[in-house]
Amino acid sequence: MEPLRTLLSVPAIRQNMIEKARSLPADVLVLDLEDSVPAAEKAKARAIVADSIAGLALKGQKVFVRINSILSGYGQQDLEAVITDGIDGINQPKPSSGDEVRQVEAIIERLEMERGIKHGHVKLIPWIETAKGLLNAFDIASASPRVVGVSLGAEDLTLDTGMERTEEGNELLFPRIMVVLAAKAADVIAIDTPYNNFRDEEGLIKEARLARSLGFEGKFLIHPSQVDPVNQVFRPTPEEITQARGIVEAFATAEAQGFASTSLEGKMIDIPQARRAQRLLAMAESIAQREKDNPR
Ligand code: COA
Ligand code: MG
Repeated sequence: MEPLRTLLSVPAIRQNMIEKARSLPADVLVLDLEDSVPAAEKAKARAIVADSIAGLALKGQKVFVRINSILSGYGQQDLEAVITDGIDGINQPKPSSGDEVRQVEAIIERLEMERGIKHGHVKLIPWIETAKGLLNAFDIASASPRVVGVSLGAEDLTLDTGMERTEEGNELLFPRIMVVLAAKAADVIAIDTPYNNFRDEEGLIKEARLARSLGFEGKFLIHPSQVDPVNQVFRPTPEEITQARGIVEAFATAEAQGFASTSLEGKMIDIPQARRAQRLLAMAESIAQREKDNPR
C-alpha cells in the first residue's frame, strides 16, 4: 500500500509548471491533457508530455497523465503519445460506465504489448464526475484490475447535475459518500476533488479533513502551496500512531488469552478497531518510508 495522498494536477502546456512540479513532494504528479489544455493546443501538449516523462519525478513521485475522454476524439491519440514505462498510470476523465474504462484498458493493453512494457504496469484512476458516472461508480471502480483509485470531480459533477457549487459543499456530501462506497466495495482508494480557492489554506485543510473523515485517502490538488498541508492531513498524527499501537497491543494480548474483545482507556476494542489500527500503522509506515527515501 503506497500513499496516494496528494495528486498535483499540472497543465501539460505549461512547461514552467512542469519544471516546478518535478521537485514538489506530492505523492503523484498528474500531467493534464484535458481541461487545462485548450483544443488548439492538444497536439503540442501531448508532445510536451511525451518529452517530459523520462526523469521527470525528482522526489519519487508517481507520474500519471490525465488524458481526454475516450469519447472526445482525443483520448486514443493521447494514449498513443504517452504510454511508456516512465508513467505509472492514466487518469481518465468523465467515464459514464465500466465499459468506457475497459475501452481505455484495451488500448493500454495493446500499447504495453507493442512497446515491451510489463503487462499491467500502467494503472488507472478514473474520475467520477458526471451524473451517470456517479450512478455507475462501482461499475467504474471495479472495471479493471488496473484501477487503483477513483477521484471525485466536483466541478464537472455540479455542472452536469445543475447543483450549485458552494464553499460549504453540502451538495457534495452524497457524491463523496457514494465515491467512497464504490471505491471500498471495489477495494481501491477514494480521492477527493480539488479545492479551487488556492490562497485559502484554512479552507483547504478543513475540506481535506472532512474528506479524510469520510474515508478518502487522498485529494487532487491544483497548486504547489496545497501539497504540504494536504500531505499533513492524510498523514497519521503521532497521537493516532500511539493510540493505534496501544489498540493493536491490547488486542494481541486479548487474543493470546482467547478473547476477541477487550478494553483500553474505557473503550471497547474488538476486531474492527484492531483492523483499523493496523491499517493506520501500515499507512504511517509506508508514508515514513516514502519520506525517508525522498528527503526534501
Ligand atoms: N503545478 C506546478 N506549478 C504550479 C502549478 C501547478 N499546478 N500552479 C502554479 N504553479 C507555479 C507557478 O508557475 C508559479 O511558479 P513560479 O514561482 O516559478 O513563477 C508558482 O507555482 C506560484 O503560482 P501562482 O502565481 O500562485 O499561481 P498562478 O497564477 O501562476 O497559477 C493557476 C494559478 C490556478 C492558473 C495554476 O495553479 C494552475 O494552472 N493550476 C492547475 C490547473 C489544473 O490543472 N486544472 C485541472 C484541475 S483537475
Ligand atoms: Mg473534470
